[in-house]
Amino acid sequence: MSRVAYVNGRFVTHGDAAVHIEDRGYQFADGVYEVVLVQDGALVDEVPHLDRLDRSLGELRIDSPMSRPSLQSVMRELIRKNRIRNGLVYMQVTRGVSRRDHPFPKDVKPAIVLTAKRIAATKPEVVENGVKVITIPDIRWKRCDIKTVSLLPNVLGKQQARESGAYEAWQVDEDGNVTEGTSTNAWIVTKDNELVTRNANENILNGITRLSILRLAEREGLKFVERAFSVQEALDAKEAFVSSATSFVTPVTQIDQTVIGNGKAGSMSVQLRDSYLSYAASEGRTQ
Ligand code: PDD
Repeated sequence: MSRVAYVNGRFVTHGDAAVHIEDRGYQFADGVYEVVLVQDGALVDEVPHLDRLDRSLGELRIDSPMSRPSLQSVMRELIRKNRIRNGLVYMQVTRGVSRRDHPFPKDVKPAIVLTAKRIAATKPEVVENGVKVITIPDIRWKRCDIKTVSLLPNVLGKQQARESGAYEAWQVDEDGNVTEGTSTNAWIVTKDNELVTRNANENILNGITRLSILRLAEREGLKFVERAFSVQEALDAKEAFVSSATSFVTPVTQIDQTVIGNGKAGSMSVQLRDSYLSYAASEGRTQ
């Protein structure tokens, strides 16, 4: 069966799905997006993702293209039509189509596109052995809290990671502190077992997975703090990991040339990965 996408009110064959050449997303990256995990046929953390979509739209003063219940039914229909059991739903809203000119156009309807795809389960050896990250300068703008489709620094960073044989690149601000990965949030566990992730402000995207992990850590009585941490602190850490809707909790066992801990996934990382997966399979899911 061929893939199906949703474009401005219609379900269309993925291969034929198209937007106008003067869509402002295409010309100006004037739009926002969300990625929601589908686990065992159910959406995970659906409401917080939709809340963040509304927030991103609000920050850019783009109108909502459709009501929340309509959007939710499109998401479900898309999962069904594409027969996704484990995968993701991608949604993108742009300011719409208009003759190219920088100011906001008047009387333009926002454009919406949704796609869905399957994702393969993470291999057990990746979870066990962890992944490598590199560190790169954070060259992004000052509103990284908005989930915009303007991802060029992230794309360049991820490519540099791939070319270095790494899974992710951790971006580093001018003070030498890690902000986040190019498509994940960054975490460390210090030698005295404190879980640390950067506090959420304009410098990072406040990951929905990040928020779920913080709630789980609290519930499990783990010691945690939201604060900036330096590259040196990360290199000295006992454990490290990344989080996102599609990577859950993925242990990190090498940062640049330094092996973290004993080179195997750390125990708190494994515990939080397991907790997150149970959460995704129970209270985090919506049918
Ligand atoms: N990326 N930081 C950045 C820069 C991101 O792009 C993402 C998500 C995250 C994690 O957020 P969440 O836990 O809500 O997925 C952090 C998505 C998955 C993507 O761009 O594909």
